Amino acid sequence: MDKRINVTRPSLPPYGEYAELIKGIWENGWLTNFGPLENRLAEELKEYLDAANVTMFTNGHQALAAAVRIVAGGRAKELGIAPAEAEIVTTPFTFISTTYSITEAGFRPVFADVDPVTYTMDPAAAERLISDRTVAILPVHVYGTVCDVDAFEELSRRYDLPVIYDAAHCFGVRRSGRGIASCGAASMFSFHATKAFNTIEGGAVATDDAALAEALHAYCGFGQAGGADAGIAGTNAKMTEFAAAMGICNLRHIDEVLEKRRALHETYTRILTRGGYDPATGRTFETGLKLLPEQEGVSRNFAYFPVIFKDEPTALDVMRELSERNIHVRRYFYPLTSQAAAVRQYDPAETPVAASISSRVLALPFYADLSPDDAAEIAEIVLEKCRP
Ligand SMILES: Cc1ncc(COP(=O)(O)O)c(C=O)c1O
Repeated sequence: MDKRINVTRPSLPPYGEYAELIKGIWENGWLTNFGPLENRLAEELKEYLDAANVTMFTNGHQALAAAVRIVAGGRAKELGIAPAEAEIVTTPFTFISTTYSITEAGFRPVFADVDPVTYTMDPAAAERLISDRTVAILPVHVYGTVCDVDAFEELSRRYDLPVIYDAAHCFGVRRSGRGIASCGAASMFSFHATKAFNTIEGGAVATDDAALAEALHAYCGFGQAGGADAGIAGTNAKMTEFAAAMGICNLRHIDEVLEKRRALHETYTRILTRGGYDPATGRTFETGLKLLPEQEGVSRNFAYFPVIFKDEPTALDVMRELSERNIHVRRYFYPLTSQAAAVRQYDPAETPVAASISSRVLALPFYADLSPDDAAEIAEIVLEKCRP
């Protein structure tokens, strides 16, 4: 292609709308520290995400790290387990932020394998890793595909452990008519520039627990938000008014953005499944490619378009072919986070399904302004490389 196609590109609102909204910042002189735009966006997101409480953060990573520190840290204290001894059962098939949210707080990540259809943490594998040092469970709704939340709820009840969801990819997803934000002790959403909904940088924790929301709010303002010392050692992770303004504008256009993403998803799926396909598993018949499954009772947000190839050499070959045509895909997620230098002590063979998927996955270019013709051309190139 003459032009470069990247794997992602942010959605921006009309410039005039953003300019109009930030005018008020020059009038009130309020740039950060829980300003009116941040409060307004939090209220709008409560409604959109179907969440009882939403606490805004400067980015998703800080939001997740805060939830881990407070929720898992609280459980460790109750159990009398020193942080260095405390374990959190999690998945290695995710973005590195998930794992670092655990290690930064001084806890040990313990990696469970994933389900071969949804790529989300396998509850049975997670259960096998629960020990008397476990203080929390941290699954990820990978690519917007919802984890087996019923099974995790059952584990939570049986072992009296909090479940913190990394819902970074799951903006707006609903399950059985309810927002995904209501699952577990807390759910983190990322509003990074590359996500379906963005605040430039930004994130939030949604929770049904009002006391936890208050603690999170205090935490992101040095533990002293509201003027009083909340008795919690905090950090600075406040959302700015410029970020909140971007969120307010983007939320007005979210339906158009999701519709464009849905149409692209359909274009990719139509071409890549030409030889037939089973939507329940995402498996295609002619090419052996695997796409994301459709989940009964779950609304999709079309966050990403990952494709699993039959083997790693094929994935790398497709990546090379696309790159030569100025089309840039991403091995998202590769390698497993259990292989990251800062946590390297795990053998990928301990999580064979995750290791296999990670070696074979490519995320195709996917963003609202990608033209359907370009998506069709990309899909044809991929298909051509994978035909038997
Ligand atoms: C699964 C996952 N968790 C956490 C994060 C961190 O979010 P942020 O980039 O907003 O800090 C991301 C971001 O890309 C993510 O994909």
